[in-house]
Amino acid sequence: MRPGLRRLNLVVHVGSSVGWLGAVAAFLALSIVGRTSADAGSVRAVYVAMNLIGLYVMVPLSLAALVSGVVQSLITHWGLARHYWVLAKLALTVGATLLLVLHQFTAVAAAAERALGGAPAQLPDIGRLGKQLVFDAAFAAVVLVITTTLSVFKPWGRTRFGSLAAVNTTVPGAGTVRGRSPIGVRILIVALGAILATIVVLHLAGGGMHGHGM
Ligand code: HEM
Repeated sequence: MRPGLRRLNLVVHVGSSVGWLGAVAAFLALSIVGRTSADAGSVRAVYVAMNLIGLYVMVPLSLAALVSGVVQSLITHWGLARHYWVLAKLALTVGATLLLVLHQFTAVAAAAERALGGAPAQLPDIGRLGKQLVFDAAFAAVVLVITTTLSVFKPWGRTRFGSLAAVNTTVPGAGTVRGRSPIGVRILIVALGAILATIVVLHLAGGGMHGHGM
């Protein structure tokens, strides 16, 4: 592929992925105002705005970041499975995109619908959704900051697939000893597993999707 096209895809990738982080920051600020404001008009406007930002900014940017990231991996020497940092970013981005799309069409849409209900002067009753959305936005911001950090530092080197010879070592008398994943990768896998388990437990404790207060 021509260097110009590669750079163009990188511009799309950095613009969409870091733009997604910016949109999440705005969403987080609005979700806090929605929880704390005592003004009915502001609360209504906040949840309607969050729904629009989610639908027309965050979801498209997340899909653009994912697609352009996979394309960038495949058209450069980085590869999709050759480096741990690329694999970690892929896992984090797929997880974040799935959660975002799922919550957009359940929790965020329901909060906007609730905000528009009731008497105009009365503070809308968003229920547990208000707290849930603050938590979701804060969680997404942390994941995206981790992803951005991985992109810049590119840690942990090559995967076994990327460099079998460099990771496997031949020990006299013991044959070939399979190399272990770097400690950072193992910590990340354990942390991701713990986060996923917490989310599943919280959802089950709250009664699945009905746990969003719907
Ligand atoms: C929200 C998620 C993501 C964020 C915030 C993000 C951010 C970034 C940033 C800031 C860079 C530029 C780093 C530099 O040039 O030093 C970059 C590069 C890159 N990203 Fe992502 N990225 C994300 C998702 C992904 C995904 C899902 C993949 C693929 C699986 C990916 C693959 C790459 C590759 C291969 C590069 C290096 C491009 C090159 O140097 O040619 N990214 N990313």
